[in-house]
Amino acid sequence: MEMYDSLCSPLLDKCQSEKLNLLFYKLYNKIMSDVVSSFPFQIHSFEEYEKSYKASIEQPENFWASIASNFYWKKKWDKVQEWNFSEPKVEWFKGAKLNITENCIDRHLQKLGNQAAIIWEPNNPEEKTRVITYSQLHKSVCQFAQVLKNNGVTKGDRVCIYMGMVPELAFAVLACARIGAIHNVIFGGFSAQSITDRIEDSQATFIITCDGAYRGAKLIPLKNVIDEAIIENKKIKKVIVFERTQNPVSMLKERDVWWKDEMKFAEMQLENDVSISTNAEVMDAEDPLFILYTSGSTGKPKGVVHSCAGYMVWTTYTFVNVFQYKPGQIHFCTADIGWITGHSYIIYGPLAAGATSLLFEGIPTWPDAGRFWDIVDKHKVEILYTAPTAIRTLMGFGLDPLQGKDLSSLKILGTVGEPINEEAWHWYDENIGKKKCPIVDTWWQTETGGIMISNLAGITPAKPSWATLPMPGVQPILVDEKGKEVIEKNDLGMQKGNLCIKAAWPSIVRTTYGDHGRCRNNYFATYKNLYFTGDGAIKDENGFFRITGRVDDVLNVSGHRISTAEVENAINMYAGVVESAVVGYPNEIKGQGIYAFVIYNGNQKELEIIRTNILQTVTKIIGPIAKPDKIQLVSGLPKTRSGKIMRRILRKIAEGESENFGDITTLLDPAIVEEIKNGKI
Ligand code: PRX
Repeated sequence: MEMYDSLCSPLLDKCQSEKLNLLFYKLYNKIMSDVVSSFPFQIHSFEEYEKSYKASIEQPENFWASIASNFYWKKKWDKVQEWNFSEPKVEWFKGAKLNITENCIDRHLQKLGNQAAIIWEPNNPEEKTRVITYSQLHKSVCQFAQVLKNNGVTKGDRVCIYMGMVPELAFAVLACARIGAIHNVIFGGFSAQSITDRIEDSQATFIITCDGAYRGAKLIPLKNVIDEAIIENKKIKKVIVFERTQNPVSMLKERDVWWKDEMKFAEMQLENDVSISTNAEVMDAEDPLFILYTSGSTGKPKGVVHSCAGYMVWTTYTFVNVFQYKPGQIHFCTADIGWITGHSYIIYGPLAAGATSLLFEGIPTWPDAGRFWDIVDKHKVEILYTAPTAIRTLMGFGLDPLQGKDLSSLKILGTVGEPINEEAWHWYDENIGKKKCPIVDTWWQTETGGIMISNLAGITPAKPSWATLPMPGVQPILVDEKGKEVIEKNDLGMQKGNLCIKAAWPSIVRTTYGDHGRCRNNYFATYKNLYFTGDGAIKDENGFFRITGRVDDVLNVSGHRISTAEVENAINMYAGVVESAVVGYPNEIKGQGIYAFVIYNGNQKELEIIRTNILQTVTKIIGPIAKPDKIQLVSGLPKTRSGKIMRRILRKIAEGESENFGDITTLLDPAIVEEIKNGKI
């Protein structure tokens, strides 16, 4: 092994040819799979799962202490867990000191230094793939950590990251974690206004962005969006700009600096100045690691806060077990790092496990609908983790895009983000997995940090469109509206209710940034001593869970969480709009579409112009992902005498129902229902 390392290191560093480079890392990964033993906490059979689950509930302290002992700690914990849901206050591995980047990078260097940590597949297939080994990742992260320090970033500062899917995004995230700065990644599709809100709420003082990002045939001018977002913000100290697209950008003297200049300077410093250390900051187990904004049923998006130790243990544990990861495998999670899935299963989980994580810049349908399959074939991907909406989109293109693509390397398939319908599940199983790859349907949320309910690939049974069983440490419970546990079964032997979790797990949300009361109200106040997920679920006679969707006013459009209130606020910003009400309705590809009922008091003749302008307004205020699919102008909304909109009725109309609206006599104006129904689009 050492001989191979000393031979390969210099070659890999100098390797300019993409082909040779790819060959090296494939060979390396193959060797690694033989020399690195698998994980001590990996579950190998259904019996082992049952044993682990039992132990995690009956002796959580011992259970988690034994799992945590597989990580690198600067100081061991004093207490494994201490929590209550009433404040809420949750602490895991209390008193421990660590840095997550040492677990994701440094501790692998000796054995995996030359293994690919990240393989980057650019948007444009003609561009060169980049392979970043663990050694190179270490160098880049330390260097960029130095850049952050040079620019005045210190522990606890909030750093907003608004970048495309380039390796530098992963470097930026990890560099923040290395020095203890709290990263707040914002998805590249959000508008300037959304960024302004997030920057203000998190009181961020630093921004890392790109000149632009490629998404399919489009170029998104990220730096321009940032400029617009911070036009009135005097608190931003520095904006670091990575050059990806070479589109023209404005650079404000003293505030805006180029990534490459800063990196060059830091490299020189690190080479020449022995007094500069690349040591990772010592973090407390409960120090915040990052903030990620997500939509709730009311108000502006909330800044979900995750802390260092629990999140690290959970993402690694779930990654290794759910995907049954084996050393040397290549894991391709198609999510964007701007969402929790990218944080947990492109960056932290896979890297902490020493895996090779494939980072893809583009979209599944560009330059054609065979893009995923080309990537799987080219890199011999073993684990593919994607969203049902992507599967349904690709299904729509038929089997032609699969022609000539060798998918035989695939071993495990996964889905996340929304319920997967059986048709899509079977298509995935038959055409992508060739009926040989277990499919894991992973249910979880931004607030849970990592996977909560899922089958373990090939170990616990799969059931199409069912997330199935909880991970060890997760205690799901179904309750009725009043919070009483649902015991009764329907004719099919199933229980149905609102999904809650009974006890804390290591990566549960710690707070919502700047407003702990909001965290309590949103997740812990609906039902006493329970974490409420906002989802409805059913449970079968085997204890398998099927998630049926949100029971609050949150939409799930193509796996993206959007609140109806947020979309309504955006629509109401358009001149002439008096009021609006937004509901979700079934959409074949996106899972849910957005249907907006709008009271508009301007000239209604120019209907198409009004619609286009409303769409433009929503794009401007939130971003294109929140654009309504249907906009119906109405003269009134079905309201109760107390002024509450009866969304249940609007939902039924949007779903195409023409009767069975239930009791509408309590409405202020029952006749409005007929009018809205007749005008349905
Ligand atoms: O409604 C559930 C749905 O996505 C919501 C969480 O969204 P977000 O915080 O953006 O995180 C998405 C990625 C983890 C959940 O409340 N959801 C997520 N996974 C599934 C799912 N619904 C059904 N099945 C799933 N596997």
